[in-house]
This record gives sequence, C-alpha cells and structure tokens, in this order.
Amino acid sequence: MCGIIGYTGRNNAVPYLLKGLHSLEYRGYDSAGIALFSEGEIGFCKCKGRVSTLEKIVEKKEVCSTTGIGHTRWATHGEPSVVNAHPHLSENKKFAVVHNGIIENYEKIKSDLIKKGYSFKSDTDTEVIPNLIDSVYQGDIIKALLECAGVLQGSFAIAVMSEHCPDSIVCIRRNNPLVLCKGADGMHLSSDVTALLCYSDTVYKPEENSPVVITPDKIEFYNSEGELTKCKKEKINWVAQQTEKNGYEHYMLKEIMQQPEAVRDTLEAVSKDAGCISEILKDISKIHIIACGSAYHVGVTGKYVIEKLSVIQCECHIASEFRYSDVPVGDGHLCIIISQSGETADSLAALRKAKKKGAYTLGIVNVQGSSIASESDSVIYTKAGPEIAVATTKAYSAQLSVIYFISALLCKDNEKRERLMNELFSLPSLIEGVLHSCDEECRRISSLFDKRQSAYFIGRNTDYPSAMEGALKMKEISYIHCEAYAAGELKHGTISLIEKDTVVVAVMTNSAVFSKTYSNVKEVQSRGAKVVFIVKKSDAHLLTEESNVIGLDDCDDIFSGSLSAIPLQLLSYYTAKAKGCDIDKPRNLAKSVTVE
Ligand code: M6R
Repeated sequence: MCGIIGYTGRNNAVPYLLKGLHSLEYRGYDSAGIALFSEGEIGFCKCKGRVSTLEKIVEKKEVCSTTGIGHTRWATHGEPSVVNAHPHLSENKKFAVVHNGIIENYEKIKSDLIKKGYSFKSDTDTEVIPNLIDSVYQGDIIKALLECAGVLQGSFAIAVMSEHCPDSIVCIRRNNPLVLCKGADGMHLSSDVTALLCYSDTVYKPEENSPVVITPDKIEFYNSEGELTKCKKEKINWVAQQTEKNGYEHYMLKEIMQQPEAVRDTLEAVSKDAGCISEILKDISKIHIIACGSAYHVGVTGKYVIEKLSVIQCECHIASEFRYSDVPVGDGHLCIIISQSGETADSLAALRKAKKKGAYTLGIVNVQGSSIASESDSVIYTKAGPEIAVATTKAYSAQLSVIYFISALLCKDNEKRERLMNELFSLPSLIEGVLHSCDEECRRISSLFDKRQSAYFIGRNTDYPSAMEGALKMKEISYIHCEAYAAGELKHGTISLIEKDTVVVAVMTNSAVFSKTYSNVKEVQSRGAKVVFIVKKSDAHLLTEESNVIGLDDCDDIFSGSLSAIPLQLLSYYTAKAKGCDIDKPRNLAKSVTVE
C-alpha cells in the first residue's frame, strides 16, 4: 500500500521518479507527488488521482533537480486530496518525507508537537514524521532519523530529504518493504524491485530500524545504533521486459494467458526441491495454511486436498484472524504462509506469531527477497514472474500448483502418488487448452452479469474454494456484489435472495459431489435463477438441457481447481471490460497490502 521512490545522481531526477511511480502505481492510486531540491530549497508537486495527472502538472512546471523523492498513495488517514498527498514537509520546509505504512501513535506525537508550536495542514498520520525529525534534529540526520523511528509505533518505510544535506536521501523501514540499488547514473530507492529492474539486477534490502543514506555515488548502511555497517546484495531473477504489457489491452489478460507458463515454471522449480520439501513434511502432526484473499482460497483448496491424500489434519486460517486468535499451534506443526507479494502485513504478522509459538514455517511466495520469504524457515518460490494487475491470476495458479505438489508428496500410496505427479505435470497443457476452448463462451456468458447488482457462486468440496475465488475476482474488478457459498449451505438462508434472473455460477468439477450440487442448482432454477455451469466436458452430457455450460478438459478431481479458475477469471475480465471498469487498478484496492 503506497509506493515510495527516490533518486539522487547526475541526471534530472524527475523522469526517474515518474517512471518509478508508474511502476509502483499498483500499490495505490489515490494521489501522487514528488519533492525536489530547487534553488536551495525543497519544492514539491502533488495531485489527487493518478501518476499520469502528476506527470502533466510536472511537465508544465518544467522542474529539474538531481535529487528527489516520490509517492503514490493508497489512503489510510485522510481522504484522497492534494493536501493529504505525499510528500509531506515539516512546517519550516526543511524536511520532506514520503511514507508507506501507518503510524499508530500519530495523534499523541501530533499533540506533543502542537504543544511545541508546530502546526499541521493535513489529516494524515505521515505529517508528524518530518516535524518530529525537525524537532529532534541537531546536525546529524542519522541520529535524528533513529530518534524519530524510536518514537514511531506502527509500520513504515520512509524516505527523507533534508535541506541540510541537499544531495542525500535517508530512509528507514519497519514492517514495510524498502529496496535500493546502484544505477549507472545514480542511486535509487523503491518500495519494490519492479521499479528498479531497469537499473540493476542486484538490490539491497536493508534491515529493519536501520538507516540508509544514498548520495549520487554511494549507498551507506547503518545499524540501529547508528554505526556504519554492510548489507547483503541480492540478485533478482526478473527482468524489466516482464513488466510490459506486450500488446495486451490489460495486464490482467496478459497474466491470465501466462498461466500455463507460470504453472510449468513453478512445477519445474518445485520438483527440484522435492527432497527438501519431503524432509520438511516428515513427522509433521498438523498443517496450518495461513493467507489472505485469493491466497487464502488456495489454502482452503489445500485443506481439502491434503486431507484427501493424507491422514494429516489441515486447517486454513485468514491471516488477519489468525494473528489475534488463540489457535493451538506449536511443536510438530507446519505453518504454510501463502503470499504473492510476500509483504502482506497480516500474513507477515501471522508468520511471526507461528514462529514464536514453535511451529516450522514454510512460505510460498512469488517475490524474491520479500519479508515473508526472508523470515520463513523455508521458502518455496512460485515462478509466476512479476504480477502487475491488482487482481491475481497467474500467481494464484502457481500457488495452487505448489499446494497440489505438497499434497501429492504427502500421499503415502506410491502408485497413487506417481499417478498424481504425472497428472500434475500435465496441468500446464490442460490450462492452455481451457484458455483457448472457453474464451469465446466466457465472453458470451459474461453478458449475463454486466447489468446485475449481484451474483452467487456455489460449489462443494474442492469446488467451494474455486467458487470463493470466482466471486472475489468478479466483485474485485467489476464491482458486482458476489457471494460464494458451499452449495449445500444456500438453503439455510441465502436462497431467500434468489429471484427471477439472479445469476448463479455453479462450479461442478468434482464428480463425487456433482449430483449433490446439481440438486442445489435445481432449487435455485425453480426460483428463477439463471445458472452458469462450470463442469468437466465428460459430465457435460448430463446438462444437455442447460444453455450456459462451460466445459473443461478432464483431469483428476483433485486438481480441477486449476482448470475452473480459468473461466472464472475470464468471466470477471469480460464483465469488467463490458462495464468499462479500470480492470488493472480497481477502485479502493492496492496490490500489496502492507497495512493491517
Ligand atoms: O500478496 P498476497 O498474496 O499476500 O495478497 C493477498 C491478497 O491481498 C490478494 O490475494 C488479493 O485478494 C487479490 N487482489 C485478489 O485478486
């Protein structure tokens, strides 16, 4: 949530800052702004809305400076507005700050500063930071930053420019990401690596509570005591070209189409680690899967599949609930944390809690070097590549393939395990087939949704988390209210909402419960619902009287979530497109949720 960027070097900082903000915009797009040195003082430019709006304002002003910081905001404290946009300056304009995170004790800091004579313009928590730094600054910016960080409670990645050291930027982080790199023409800092890929293939990720100073020629790392120290370089496997749209109208469509490759690359990588993973799974008495959003749906699928293939009990938890609950977790338990970004605040806090309670933690993460990847006892990387669209598609599919792999490893029946592994490795080509075979049908059927206020998604067993994911995808990008239900649960209340032409999507790929879900379908059809079926082609003959049937190639029921995800994604994509929604950047959302 929120993206911060910084550059100091030999060239004009403005193009670097704007380019960086465009790359980080998926983290928030309520407002944008930059701060620069010009004529001996800090100047700024900010706007409500998108980076492209900021770009137009900046172009007109013809601003130029070799040092600057920038921000793209996902509003937490204070409405999206120019006055609440970052950078925020100290009252005397000597310090400018961009911030990603939340300062939990900002009200107390603010009232203390007001007593000292400071005044405030915005409703943000961030504005206390430049003023607090100013109030403690005595000629040493590192000392002042550390003192300020000592007072701040909450989470932050902060970059600070100071009139006292015009070509430097200082930064510090706690519970929020911050990466830096050396470019050919200067030094860069950013909230994530995607904005740095065009400058270097190696980045630095500073320790928490440890200041960093960048000047045009060097990066200096300090420890939490303010002493100079070193920071490990990390090689990044991604390249800048992967973050381009490659001719697709939306990143989401590009990423949907990349799923065969994402799953193939992930399975290839994970199979190389099969030995280590088996070792982790040895002697485990219970598995907890912890995640948020779509990653949680992968976890729920995992629960069904793991309990089907092994005798190990598996529970799936929403990370924000787990972190404040008393779920018994301890020795002999394996906690699997699933996260695309590896930075989701709730998932990270849940991971820390699980570790503290003595469980072994395994991260399933897409972003290399991210906090969850670094802090888990072991990590399995999904190989989905950079995912830019806020709605996850290829990372979801890659996560599912890892969960399937782990589940298959847990199967004690050698013959069955071998068969399942073979089936698993055929998933990429099956996904490819489904992408081609159902595209037209999804485009047609999506017209059922675009005029609706709400829709329901139902499924049983492994089809239930798929229905949950389908509903989330649809509401996230098309703004249609969607609910997912375990099909048998509908009649316990929600069926009262079914009326003529209500759309119900029935995911029915699990043969063992096909007829049960079909009975629930009959119940909603009798009340006037229009039903969209997602079934295996081999079951389609049972639905000859139905008109909206999407058929998937056959695969073992256990893995069918990988195939049903495709039409569910395409239905939401085409619906959102027909409604003219901002598909890659849906309202109120951000890709990386680094606040509670
Ligand atoms: O980065 P993470 O996988 O931890 O993110 C978790 C959720 O925020 C994420 O899956 C979210 O639900 C997606 N935008 C859904 O498409």
